[in-house]
Amino acid sequence: MTGKSLYILNESTKNGIKQETVRLELQHRFCDDIMNNELLPSHITNQLAETPSPRVCDIATGTAIWLKDLAETLPASAELVGLDFDVSKFPEPEALPSNIRLGFVDAYEPFPEEFQNRFDVVHLRHFILATKRDHGVPLVQNLLSLLRPGGWLVWVEAGATLASAEPPSEALFQMQRIYYNFVKAANLEIDATLARASYMRQAGLLDCDDRSYNCGSVLFGPQASDWLAKEHDEFILTFAQILKGILIKGGVEGMRTQKDFDELLSKLREDISGTRRLHMPVVRASGRKSL
Ligand SMILES: C[S@@+](CC[C@H](N)C(=O)[O-])C[C@H]1O[C@@H](n2cnc3c(N)ncnc32)[C@H](O)[C@@H]1O
Repeated sequence: MTGKSLYILNESTKNGIKQETVRLELQHRFCDDIMNNELLPSHITNQLAETPSPRVCDIATGTAIWLKDLAETLPASAELVGLDFDVSKFPEPEALPSNIRLGFVDAYEPFPEEFQNRFDVVHLRHFILATKRDHGVPLVQNLLSLLRPGGWLVWVEAGATLASAEPPSEALFQMQRIYYNFVKAANLEIDATLARASYMRQAGLLDCDDRSYNCGSVLFGPQASDWLAKEHDEFILTFAQILKGILIKGGVEGMRTQKDFDELLSKLREDISGTRRLHMPVVRASGRKSL
């Protein structure tokens, strides 16, 4: 593996447009549907509703899409801060509500003092490819420094390695093997999707909980009609972005050349189509900083 930062999803552009920006907007809608359009666990939403000027910080905010949706549910007096170490995906300030502010941070470094002990809620989502091995608990401890006493940490992850296809897909297995090879080479935490409530407990958070949603379950609810096509598009787009990122960073066993990429992507496109169903957990963990 090569590259200054091992984070792989910010790499590719097409016609001057950052592909990740497009993908993140789609992924947000996809996850929102899976999680019953609840941006936060209901007890935290209720608590924010009782706070006159709530303060929320979204770490690794990407395009700030989650924060923009949240802003619509909160009063104009809410203070909303989105932070990321890649500022190139941020929308122009004119495209944001005036109570959203965006800025640079590295989530593994101490946060600027102005943000410490400040927020009612700190939210982190889709950080799995940036979760360094054995850094789950220290990362949570760092995030805790942003919360006021009694504030909530909420961390959402999907589990690509836990995904399954019905009927099974050889291309999906191949993709997952490459994903594991990459996680190992980049020294990332493979089981972070399932381990976060435990990180929170170890970091001293209270009332820790997690709730899993399965993307396959949407097929049995009111949004079933075009769900299979949405699932297929989301999986292909995300897998293509991951594989491209792995290749750009130098590749791993099973994904070394453009030919490897083209062949696997075409197999994935063939397999992940038609009536094939996909299952994948999206897990939201939360915990409260002590008073
Ligand atoms: C998959 S995106 C998710 C974006 C957003 N949370 C969402 O759900 O739409 C992960 C984000 O983490 C950011 N990131 C990765 N490593 C980071 C770090 N060490 N500190 C801050 N942000 C980081 C990336 O730049 C990227 O925007």
